[in-house]
Amino acid sequence: MKILLTGAAGFIGMHAALRLLQRGDEVVGIDNITPYYEVSLKRARLAQLAAYPNFRFIEQDLADLAGVQAALGDWKPQRVLHLAAQPGVRYSIEHPHTYAQANLVAFLNVLELCRGWQVEHLAYASSSSVYGANAQLPFSEDHSVDHPVSLYAATKKANELMAHTYSHLYQLPTSGLRFFTVYGPWGRPDMAPFKFVKAISEGRTIDIYNYGRQMRDFTFVDDIVESTIRVLDKPATPDADFDRLQPRSSTSFAPYRVFNIGNSDPVQLMDFVSTIEQAVGREADKRMLPAQPGDVEATYADTSALRDWVGFQPATPLKDGVARFVDWYRSYYGQ
Ligand code: NAD
Ligand code: UGA
Repeated sequence: MKILLTGAAGFIGMHAALRLLQRGDEVVGIDNITPYYEVSLKRARLAQLAAYPNFRFIEQDLADLAGVQAALGDWKPQRVLHLAAQPGVRYSIEHPHTYAQANLVAFLNVLELCRGWQVEHLAYASSSSVYGANAQLPFSEDHSVDHPVSLYAATKKANELMAHTYSHLYQLPTSGLRFFTVYGPWGRPDMAPFKFVKAISEGRTIDIYNYGRQMRDFTFVDDIVESTIRVLDKPATPDADFDRLQPRSSTSFAPYRVFNIGNSDPVQLMDFVSTIEQAVGREADKRMLPAQPGDVEATYADTSALRDWVGFQPATPLKDGVARFVDWYRSYYGQ
């Protein structure tokens, strides 16, 4: 299978690429290696992928359509896994324009490319953040997602709407992957699991927003990748028997789907901190702070749609996943 994987230098992108390469797919990875967090970590991830002869990397901004087309030349994929984006909920409050380019313009370009190539399937990263604040728990794909509370969430919801349009107009099979706070080896330095492990290991104070009351459905990266590749392997068909954005009675029979991909086992942030303290073997010095703009109180995935569709759902216990992350952190940073 020829697969275009965007965001290959990213956390989830690297793990997904590794799995595809190991099973023998031909993978072209695109990433513009943004300096949002340590570029050296992104380069180190790419070095893992470069060991495979079936991998080719293109350093390119997806918001530049002509540049992408020039770099790819005649090569065209059968399927596309689009994971590139500007992530981060709270950062989007301060840097809205970055999200317009990376999450909207780039996404439109990916849709246009997929349309031109007539790919069998586009699977793309959405986010649990589309459910917004005060959403009904657990989150189900049937719930309304009309009230995002960060620009990041709004761009992810916009991606789903754009994907629906292309599925409907051009019969492009698309699957939106609503990932829930992902953690694990090679994780993102801007996210709570990494920040907490690093600060506790170095004996520095950790900032705990919302006084630690919020709940997060932390999901281990291997489960995210297993779910993602199973979904990528199974495109919806134009006569799919359901369409998760439109009512069943709709005249739209677009090959369009969205899936929650989360652990279905949320924890309160203070309990998450305790799990990290145990894994690191040290108590955290904590600074308790108010809730941050854009943050939601709770995330909790109902994964029955995913299970019914691909026969798998995330289930790695938090304690095991955190131990795996701490092991990686120590080996990578030598602490
Ligand atoms: P990441 O930042 O590690 O990876 C994203 C990659 O995309 C980066 O390497 C970045 O350089 C690249 N990129 C950004 N803008 C680009 C552009 N214009 N052109 C080309 N490349 C570009 O993030 P991640 O955690 O691996 O997230 C992957 C996807 O999953 C993202 O779409 C993110 O929004 C989504 N997501 C992540 C989580 C999570 O908890 N990690 C949860 C929900 C959704
Ligand atoms: C994460 C990712 O950053 C988003 O890209 C993604 O889309 C989102 O998950 C998702 O699930 O859709 P978030 O849940 O905010 O967003 O993940 P973290 O940055 O790891 O934060 C988790 C919780 O810890 C948040 O409630 C946050 O307020 C809190 N936190 C974070 C702290 O208390 N202190 C910190 O220093 C950092």
